[in-house]
Amino acid sequence: MRRFPFVARWIATVAVVWIYPLLLAQGPPGPISSELTKFITPADNPGSDAMARLGDQLFDDKRLSADNTVACNTCHEPRGGFTARAETAKGIRDQSGKRNTPTIINAAFFQTQFWDGRAATLEEQAKMPILNPIEMGMKSPEEVVAKLRAIPEYVTAFNDVFGRPPNYDDMARAIAGV
Ligand code: HEC
Repeated sequence: MRRFPFVARWIATVAVVWIYPLLLAQGPPGPISSELTKFITPADNPGSDAMARLGDQLFDDKRLSADNTVACNTCHEPRGGFTARAETAKGIRDQSGKRNTPTIINAAFFQTQFWDGRAATLEEQAKMPILNPIEMGMKSPEEVVAKLRAIPEYVTAFNDVFGRPPNYDDMARAIAGV
């Protein structure tokens, strides 16, 4: 019978001496995600809800590819954990790439992008697959911009979000900010 009070006292001591100060040291619970995103948000791309909506639309839009068949989400399928669910992904005209499609969940937290780290930021990365001949196959940034400027809903959305007509840098900002 005497063991129980001892065990209870021991647990209480551990809680007060060890666990309680630990909880105090961590401070009050806060919105962790916004703290983290603040840490990784680039100064020249602060983002907004409207920009994220535009980026989302661009990410899903096959018109960003040369023959209107491939969007970012063709290879980074939301239902496949943003992967292609295949050894290698297929770009325009059924061409297979050489590398496996990594997930892009939490890609904003990566130090570099791609398996070999050849893009330093998400903004820089987003410009590449669109111009890659076996992925989305557009010929030049100018060709992409001309296509976007011919789509009235994008002209309006870019004007609302960035205060100017579609251009390649803003397009990459919006996709990176999804
Ligand atoms: C044809 C398939 C395909 C399309 C289309 C595609 N991707 Fe990818 N994506 C890949 C593959 C494959 C890799 C890995 C390539 C490498 O590392 O060289 C990759 C890598 C990435 C990465 C880097 C992730 C990491 O772990 O480093 C990001 C971010 C990304 N893609 C976003 C996009 C965006 C945004 C678009 C649209 C503008 C897009 N992708 C279009 C197949 C595709």
